[in-house]
Amino acid sequence: MMSIIRDPALAPAGWVKIRWAEANMPVLARVAAELGHERPLAGVRVAACLHLEAKTARLALALQQGGAELALCASNPLSTQDDVTAALADAGITVYARRGESPQEYERFLHLCLEHRPHLIIDDGADLLTLLHREYASRVSEVLGACEETTTGVTRLRAMAREGRLGLPVIAVNDALTKHLFDNRYGTGQSVWDAVMRTTNLSVAGKCAVVAGYGWCGRGVASRARGLGARVIVCEVDPVRAGEALMEGYEVAPMADAARAGDFFITTTGCRDVVRGEHFQMMKDGAVLANAGHFDVEINLEDLARLGVDRRPARPGVEEFILGDGRKLRLLGEGRLVNLAAGDGHPVEIMDMSFALQALSACHLLAAGKASPLPSGVHSVPQAIDRRVASLFLASRGVAIDILTADQRAYLVGEDTGEEDTG
Ligand code: ADE
Repeated sequence: MMSIIRDPALAPAGWVKIRWAEANMPVLARVAAELGHERPLAGVRVAACLHLEAKTARLALALQQGGAELALCASNPLSTQDDVTAALADAGITVYARRGESPQEYERFLHLCLEHRPHLIIDDGADLLTLLHREYASRVSEVLGACEETTTGVTRLRAMAREGRLGLPVIAVNDALTKHLFDNRYGTGQSVWDAVMRTTNLSVAGKCAVVAGYGWCGRGVASRARGLGARVIVCEVDPVRAGEALMEGYEVAPMADAARAGDFFITTTGCRDVVRGEHFQMMKDGAVLANAGHFDVEINLEDLARLGVDRRPARPGVEEFILGDGRKLRLLGEGRLVNLAAGDGHPVEIMDMSFALQALSACHLLAAGKASPLPSGVHSVPQAIDRRVASLFLASRGVAIDILTADQRAYLVGEDTGEEDTG
């Protein structure tokens, strides 16, 4: 079917970006070579709702190499890179996405992806799977299974499973160790500050960074803020996580207190209204607001618009809201996840692992489907896949690790010896 993209003429610029990603994604390259050889996805229709930038394109091309017929749409209206989608369309992949698409277009493109009657779904945030269950219920059984990329999506799908509303097996790629320990922590840690620094050109050193949420993303954002020389305040609702942040050496405070101190506010909670009117009222002139959560609900944009007597673009990706007393609050990337709306997403080598997991998990779903189909529900990535990705990652860095001797294996008998991680 015909792609709907911004401009096919942008393809050459998109190919340059994709080639760079490809050159720095050795784990996925290895998986792609196997897919190309074995063609396990021949004739398999795959619909994917992902952030359409160069690393994602590399995943799509790997799946295509394995024989998949792909339809892609965006998992955020502001994360699409139009040159990359042009290159993907040039490669014969059907793409429905334009950077800055309206909410109506966003929804329409999800529908168009499902019109491809996919056998497999790859989702980032669970919008495609939610729509499938809501409006295409009779087609749920046509889908062999799905893979979900992100914490928010896995949380939504687990809720559906609990309520008996999930009608297919989903692999929670997010929950693999080589996903959340790397992507959510180091990926978000780097890409958020990259986006904040490139959009604002401001110094982080010597400033106060308020990090809301101390999950894997928050841990990464706080750690990299400290590395950049910021004083870090963590806001949390979970006492265990708050305690962990404290023991890690961060200040811990409610947002009502942190609001006065922060120069940068980064939300990573997955919850709504984390920074809202009462907090904006207290913030310093020039405070920078950025969201790193999947949905643009963490910074209350209605409150911000209501309190602002004026608003104006201050730099590309930065909008200034002028409050009644003249203070300016600076919102990055329209409150959408800042690392993709105002940056290029996670570092290439991080997405190398995440997307190798996606490709291997999709193949696992298919293979399981042929032998004994996985039941409906949320499933873990098999440990063997997790360890294989970690091993390939280490190999790509030229790092060797110890191997247990026979005596050590015997000593550890009954424990997890990591045997299956070779190869
Ligand atoms: N690039 C592609 N998908 C991404 C994601 N989920 N997070 C960060 N960068 C990405």
